[in-house]
Amino acid sequence: MPASVSFNYIFSVIYAKEHSLMSTRKILVTSALPYANGPIHLGHLLEYIQTDIWARFQKARGHECYYVCADDAHGTPIMLKAQELGITPEQMIAQTNIEHQADFAGFAIHFDNYHSTHSDENRAFANQIYNKLNENGYIKRKTISQLFDPEKQMFLPDRFVKGDCPKCGALDQNGDSCDVCGATYSPTEVKNARSVVSGATPILKDSEHYFFDLPAFSQMLQDWTRSGSLQEEMANKLQEWFKDGLQMWDISRDAPYFGFEIPNAPGKFFYVWLDAPIGYLASFKNLCDKTGIDFDSFWHLDSTAEIYHFIGKDIIYFHSLFWPAMLHGAGMRKPNAIFAHGFVTVNGAKMSKSRGTFIKARTYLDYLNPEYLRYYFASKLSSSITDLDLNLDDFSQKVNADLVGKVVNIASRCASFISKRYDGKLSATVAEPQLLAEFVAAGDSIADSFEHREFARAIRDIMTLADKANQYIDAKAPWVLVKDDSKQQEAHDVCSMGINLFRVLMHYLKPVLPLMAAETEAFLNTELNWNNYQQALTNHAISPFKALMQRVDPVKVAAMVEASKDNLQPQVAAKAEASKTVKVEQQSLNASTEREPIAEKINIDDFAKIDLRVAKIVKASAVEGADKLVQLQLDIGNGEIRQVFAGIKSAYSPEQLEGRLTVMVANLAPRKMRFGLSEGMVLAAGPGGSDLFILSPDDGATPGMRVK
Ligand code: 2FM
Ligand code: ZN
Repeated sequence: MPASVSFNYIFSVIYAKEHSLMSTRKILVTSALPYANGPIHLGHLLEYIQTDIWARFQKARGHECYYVCADDAHGTPIMLKAQELGITPEQMIAQTNIEHQADFAGFAIHFDNYHSTHSDENRAFANQIYNKLNENGYIKRKTISQLFDPEKQMFLPDRFVKGDCPKCGALDQNGDSCDVCGATYSPTEVKNARSVVSGATPILKDSEHYFFDLPAFSQMLQDWTRSGSLQEEMANKLQEWFKDGLQMWDISRDAPYFGFEIPNAPGKFFYVWLDAPIGYLASFKNLCDKTGIDFDSFWHLDSTAEIYHFIGKDIIYFHSLFWPAMLHGAGMRKPNAIFAHGFVTVNGAKMSKSRGTFIKARTYLDYLNPEYLRYYFASKLSSSITDLDLNLDDFSQKVNADLVGKVVNIASRCASFISKRYDGKLSATVAEPQLLAEFVAAGDSIADSFEHREFARAIRDIMTLADKANQYIDAKAPWVLVKDDSKQQEAHDVCSMGINLFRVLMHYLKPVLPLMAAETEAFLNTELNWNNYQQALTNHAISPFKALMQRVDPVKVAAMVEASKDNLQPQVAAKAEASKTVKVEQQSLNASTEREPIAEKINIDDFAKIDLRVAKIVKASAVEGADKLVQLQLDIGNGEIRQVFAGIKSAYSPEQLEGRLTVMVANLAPRKMRFGLSEGMVLAAGPGGSDLFILSPDDGATPGMRVK
């Protein structure tokens, strides 16, 4: 019996035995819902990447696992931002939802459903839970006095009040804390208080508020905390809160407010944090309604389905106290566990716009491969809540050394010989069954690491195996063997062995690197999965090898940081400037000057949505404090004038522009910039700098004419 047959046979038997013992689990996983008034950035992505890896791992193990999320769409900041932009909150959250989903897709985050808290399902669940809590006596009413903006006729949340610190007198401090002396206080204590919304001096005004009786759940929460639902650090934090005593939680806000009106309480709305976690239920219900999954089998009181919330450590209070108490009080089951993670720092410090380290998801994707970041985060993530530093030098070094230098290197060293000399087919023999068995056997402990969110440990173990694979290839030196006619079989066996080792590694890395894994599957002509990875590929045709991952280009990392330094620039200009930087530096490095990759494909309907209009530049002026921007007043016909800030100063002086025609995107949602509202975007072509062209030919075109 050839070695390969006995090897495969033994592993098939062992695996089938183990697999039959493994029962299918039902698992629902969520990540915190991002607010619908800002872009996704790298700080957010740590959590979505962590959750996505975990959910992909569970699915790969054959479990029935769903990963749902939604935009957190309610609250005063969202209402005010929409007002500033001159659009409705509904329009703003619809636009943000599209952008968020595109950003997540760009990082291969696979949600089974992405919804919104401003949805019918969420309103129904919020009402249902509230009504139950009310029936059960957990809702109390009390009149409180709060700061009110007499001009805007609205109560002011703490962060919308500014003034002088009541402790040290420092000017222009936040309504709840002082950056100078660190004191925390109530906004009513602030000296010379003013409303951030209108500048008016706030007055104190009474209003009846609705409170959730959190202290009534103190004992239940203490028991729940001790039941293993929380990480140790979290449980310790909770002990402090229990010691201080739990407080009644104010769950209502007065109109005007963007949210759901409280049943039988006209003019009173649920505070955003009341309906935000309910959004987990709403998104899952929306998925169930679309697909036929049984919602109740996950959520009924004695369900054995597992429910896990991945969150950042800043929102532990909401998830480990309010949320389980609300569920319990409404007669519903609680999650099995809350998995909190730490914050992201970049280059050892808090993300900063001035240093260019406040990096938006979209900006990252304009320059770098999303799987670099997935890998880097995975290589540093554990189950603890310690912060994670994205050191950009270490990031490049680690991705290059591990993924390109170790993993892809195994395949690239072996594949070309298989293609060129052995007809693209792997040999019939497993040259080193023991070595392959060692790789396969590591699967249990790697799976255990993924299961327990010890991703860094999994990656370390996978890289140790990658080192072993490379050592094997170094020792066998197939490039020497192939030159000797008498050693062709051995060369073929060694290269095939290398490809088989590579396959096992990529199988382990699949939850972390789903895109590279898909390319590997195309290359190997086989699916990477937990049912088949134990059996070596023998006598198996593979496809020609294509580079699976490029090295991180430091020029692009630098360009990404540069582009993040002024995120308030219009995108056209920001991109043009950045691509110019990349180009110049690439030339000096004598690298190829590739064009930017073509963006994700859109269909004709998407394109038809873009309303391009000829616009006459009636006024152009420099913008004080912005060295790249020109402020344009554009006539788009019928007397409608639009203000647009365009990053074109390097190419045009304002005088060159007045009276000329350009083409603008007329239906882009307005954006608030540091210098004012930008109500559209002008189209620019060219590599950037002085080579940037925005003018349209004058003959025959008139303002307002649609460009098709
Ligand atoms: O902190 C935040 O960004 C919130 N939008 C998270 C909400 S998570 C859940 F409760 F909805
Ligand atoms: Zn102070």
